[in-house]
Amino acid sequence: MRASAVLGEALFFDTRLSADGTVACATCHRPEAAFADSLPVTPGVYGRVGTRNAPSLIGAGSTRELFWDGRRGSLEELVLDPLTTPEEHGIEDMPAVLASVRARHASGFARVFPGEGVTERTLAQALADYVRTLAPAPSAFERYRAGDAGALTPAQRRGLALFSGRAACARCHRLEGDALTDGAYHAGEVLPELAPRLAAAAREVSRMAPEARRAAVPARVEVAALGRYTVTLRTADVGRFRTPSLRNVAVTAPYMHDGSVATLAQAVERELYYRTSEGLRVGDLTPAERADLVEFLQALTSPVLPSGRPAAASSLP
Ligand code: HEC
Ligand code: HEC
Repeated sequence: MRASAVLGEALFFDTRLSADGTVACATCHRPEAAFADSLPVTPGVYGRVGTRNAPSLIGAGSTRELFWDGRRGSLEELVLDPLTTPEEHGIEDMPAVLASVRARHASGFARVFPGEGVTERTLAQALADYVRTLAPAPSAFERYRAGDAGALTPAQRRGLALFSGRAACARCHRLEGDALTDGAYHAGEVLPELAPRLAAAAREVSRMAPEARRAAVPARVEVAALGRYTVTLRTADVGRFRTPSLRNVAVTAPYMHDGSVATLAQAVERELYYRTSEGLRVGDLTPAERADLVEFLQALTSPVLPSGRPAAASSLP
């Protein structure tokens, strides 16, 4: 790892960089859960609860637009956000963040960034460089794609054929390249109790400055449910979310932007139900075919070791 990434790793696991000394990046992005979390929404400092499910960070380095609504365009832009978000690390402002980092990591920063030390720029670089080390090892699917016919079980091969064929999942969850997504925004499910509040929330958000809009996302569920709209203010984007990569999806339950779906089988049912296209209905797939889809998704597991170095293929589950 680069020296700045080693520094970033220490910061990533340091709970002292939070208002009450209990929350680190790794509280919500747990190495043993593919750097996601197993709660629908993970509480931050003082038990304050945000609005969205923490995504896996494995492969985040190759994601073009970040967060479920794409409101950040690079890791460097993003990584400082959690530190001052009241529902996450909850530190009051950026000067206080820098003071806290200086108090604990000044010598490391002086070594890695001589003459510059702890600044917003170097802090963002260290954290972003660490997140970039969380690059996925090849999944069974990728070994299959590269020509290893035995990498997938027969059920997984049937699931793959459905995924890219009749069930049309690959239209959005692309199977080429590393990112495994079309990078576009599509309708998510709006919980019935939120639906009546969306129009008023959209009107209110449209009058906010960009900074206030970003802050409202983790603070208010009805704003978070607006999805891509809070970035573009286009009515067509209300309730749209970035197609998530399904890499490691078998180990990152619960699912969807709000963590509202508990298991992988339920997520597949939900997607079949909502993404019906070209006349396909969920009932058109037999229970055995749906089970094959779930089996295929298991083949997308590709962890990194907690050190950030890719797992050897032999240690893959
Ligand atoms: C209290 C929980 C919590 C903490 C602490 C936290 N995060 Fe997150 N993280 C989230 C949630 C929730 C999201 C999704 C938010 C959204 O889309 O609006 C997220 C999203 C991200 C993403 C975008 C991933 C993607 O694919 O879009 C990155 C990168 C990230 N966090 C890095 C960090 C770093 C670095 C830290 C520490 C400085 C951190 N997070 C601390 C909960 C947390
Ligand atoms: C039109 C684009 C589109 C199609 C087609 C599509 N999806 Fe999705 N998928 C999405 C979006 C967008 C989300 C996020 C929705 C949300 O957060 O509310 C998602 C979420 C998911 C999730 C949850 C991932 C997570 O990390 O939370 C799974 C699993 C999933 N899709 C599987 C499938 C399967 C299986 C199919 C085929 C039956 C499919 N999808 C078809 C766009 C699509």
